Amino acid sequence: MKGILLHAGHGTRLRPLTHTGPKQLLPIANRPMSEYCIESMKETGIKEIAIIIGGIGAQKVKDYYGDGTKFDVHITYIHQDFPRGISHAISLCEDFIGNEKFLVFLGDNIIQKSIKDFGIDFEKSNAGASILLCEVDNPSRFGIADIHDGQIKKIMEKPQNPPTNLAVTGIYFLTPIIFDIIKRLKPSKRNELEITDALDMLLNEDHKITYNMITDYWKDTGTPDDIIHANGIILENLSSYFDGENDGTNKIEGNIMIGENSIIKNHSTLNGPIIIGKNCIIDGVTIGPHTSIGDNSILTNCNLQDSIIMSDCKISGDIKIKNSIISYNASIISDPVNVEKTFLLGEGTKLIL
Ligand code: G1P
Repeated sequence: MKGILLHAGHGTRLRPLTHTGPKQLLPIANRPMSEYCIESMKETGIKEIAIIIGGIGAQKVKDYYGDGTKFDVHITYIHQDFPRGISHAISLCEDFIGNEKFLVFLGDNIIQKSIKDFGIDFEKSNAGASILLCEVDNPSRFGIADIHDGQIKKIMEKPQNPPTNLAVTGIYFLTPIIFDIIKRLKPSKRNELEITDALDMLLNEDHKITYNMITDYWKDTGTPDDIIHANGIILENLSSYFDGENDGTNKIEGNIMIGENSIIKNHSTLNGPIIIGKNCIIDGVTIGPHTSIGDNSILTNCNLQDSIIMSDCKISGDIKIKNSIISYNASIISDPVNVEKTFLLGEGTKLIL
């Protein structure tokens, strides 16, 4: 089986974070979110992956993943000129896929458990496709499957009156039959070639679509709150390590991951789960729970909770930062004491309060 990772798009709902790079490279527990998709594909036995790039920061994707050697896969890049929909992106991969079955992963979808067994079942089955469904509270935001007697009867994109709350997640096991279907698709209301329309056409042409339920965790990280939530969940499942230095004055509890050369000092309180990258200085700071700090960041006196601070940031002052995402190389100097703030800061922001 081959894999396709969708890594294009403009990520408009995540601006300003996405002004300087694609949303799928935004870090969750200090790794780009799309790296978790590559891990899932690898677990499913996939070694040949096409990454669809386009829009802001396409070169950053190539710089990060290279030819895939570092990740133990082989990567081919395919360029999508404009976000014309998931089906359009898939159609660009017809030559790459050839006659094999394949797995498509949207690079902004985060799951927790392995999908290896679903892949093995699909390899053996004669289904035209297999999808993963997850119960959601807001079904009109997603593709939705209508199911009767355990069989998928209809698949629709963001219906106003959803017949079920079963969201079609962005993880699709497909066969090359889909390429012929996509050639006959018409653009949707949002002017995209929808994957849900292609799947529905597959059903109408008497191909079977099987499904499995995701019952633990799935998130389409469309908004900052989604990313903060996914960050917390992923952190809860990582194992602790402490590769930095502790000056012995700190209070440390819970699941803590500290990278090489990071120094925790001066009565800091670390409340896991948290991850701190390499070469950080954590000086009299209270961190956690559910917080990620990227490499080379210097934090002094502040308090951080449920937040993502990317690499090379500097934060100082008596300020409590909650539910925030602070992008690379940003700095905050807070003069007022005892303030609580929520930030969404783009790369390189300088804030003096
Ligand atoms: C896309 C699909 C939708 C699916 C969702 C999952 O939506 O069109 O069917 O449920 O991904 O992440 P979009 O993110 O383009 O709104």
